[in-house]
Amino acid sequence: MATRKKITISTLRARKREGRKISMLTCYDYSTAVLMEEAQIDSLLVGDTYAEVCLGHPTTLPATMEHMVVVAEAVRRGAPTAYLIGDMPYLSYQVCPEEAIRNAGMFMAQAGCDCVKAEVDRRLLGTVKAMVDASIPVMAHLGLKPQSIASVGGYRVQGKQASDAVRIVEDAKMMEDAGAIALLLEAVPMELAAEITNSTDLPVIGCVSGPFCDGQVVVLHDMLGYGVGHPPRSVKVYAQLHDELVGVFRAYAKDVAEEAFPLAEESASMDSAQLSKLRRSLHG
Ligand code: KIV
Repeated sequence: MATRKKITISTLRARKREGRKISMLTCYDYSTAVLMEEAQIDSLLVGDTYAEVCLGHPTTLPATMEHMVVVAEAVRRGAPTAYLIGDMPYLSYQVCPEEAIRNAGMFMAQAGCDCVKAEVDRRLLGTVKAMVDASIPVMAHLGLKPQSIASVGGYRVQGKQASDAVRIVEDAKMMEDAGAIALLLEAVPMELAAEITNSTDLPVIGCVSGPFCDGQVVVLHDMLGYGVGHPPRSVKVYAQLHDELVGVFRAYAKDVAEEAFPLAEESASMDSAQLSKLRRSLHG
């Protein structure tokens, strides 16, 4: 297996300069992280979509710092060279800058993340600045912000109206000026994504925002055709793991029902002297 150097923010900046796209996937466990490391995915996001795809909640809101840090630690163990991002869960950074710093610090110090991501706009500028001042690298998530879904009224594309688009462009600039090290644009029109990507030196990652960003992130379960019950994101589906795994589980259940598994000849057995001893001690 080819080894690679640790991916850092300098790597991502260079990739932007060179016009070489950045691949990012969400990841929620050690074993999958090992596979992504082997496949040389550039960056792994321990997303708060964990609450949806792994815990079965209808939104990301129930993700907690306790969940996210444990998951991020496991992902880091599996993918030592990937650029690892810890996603700040709902209410881990909105209450006050001090809490934001403490929580973001757990991703950095405990889990070995390379940066944290937070769903922000100009109202949280002070919090982003405070985290940056505390030496915490922040990726600013703009556009559709799933943690605000109850206020926004649904999962829909943001910035389709010119006035809304201008606001997102301004927010992006404010985040850059506040010291954010990267941007993530979720569900914005591709023209808006292109405007923002071309107007900044920061690496810009797109999530269902068209082809013009510096990199792409997709939710793992969406691209694998795996899992149900979370909001659909229109992504390219590379596998149909749902159908495949249901087939595997059915085959297993059938084998057990028909006594085709496990087979006696493949099972551990006692030698006959020991077996006689056992029977004598149990039954006289
Ligand atoms: O939590 C997550 O998975 C995300 C992606 C949708 C970008 O924030």
